[in-house]
Amino acid sequence: MLVQVFSFQQLLLLLLVVLCLTGLKCIPAQRPTPRRDAEYPPPKTLGFLLPLGERCKQETGVSGEAIKRFSDADIFDDDRALKCYMDCMFRLTNVTDDRGELHMGKLLEHVPHEFEDIALRMGVKCTRPKGKDVCERAFWFHKCWKTSDPVHYYLV
Ligand SMILES: *[C@@H]1O[C@H](CO)[C@@H](O)[C@H](O)[C@H]1NC(C)=O
Repeated sequence: MLVQVFSFQQLLLLLLVVLCLTGLKCIPAQRPTPRRDAEYPPPKTLGFLLPLGERCKQETGVSGEAIKRFSDADIFDDDRALKCYMDCMFRLTNVTDDRGELHMGKLLEHVPHEFEDIALRMGVKCTRPKGKDVCERAFWFHKCWKTSDPVHYYLV
């Protein structure tokens, strides 16, 4: 019998090796997979954001790769154009107040009703932006949201 041939530790190790070989994660995933399917990000929101994104790409010179990387992969903070792109998007979607700062209530107006809870939870801890200018502070929000909910965060 198996239990007599192998010690408990050996069985555990064997189990782990089998799990690894069958493609399951051997160690907990360090980065959860962002949700990207037919319903999310909401197609209507994407349709609204994409043309504005084109304008902000032209304004800031950010690369599509940088946007995609921040959206779907890791957080990096050495791309000034990306930070100003985030600010540009805040401006063009009219979610900033007259001082140029993000207005949470205005932002929520763009979130479809069924995703309000997700957005609220993502943003609840992200209320005190730091940074020397609007680009840095726009980036602060995005970094905070992505950290808070890497599954539902997206950037277009
Ligand atoms: C934002 O506000 C400006 C000025 O009121 C308006 O022209 C523009 O259409 C608005 N943009 C959006 C995306 O609502």
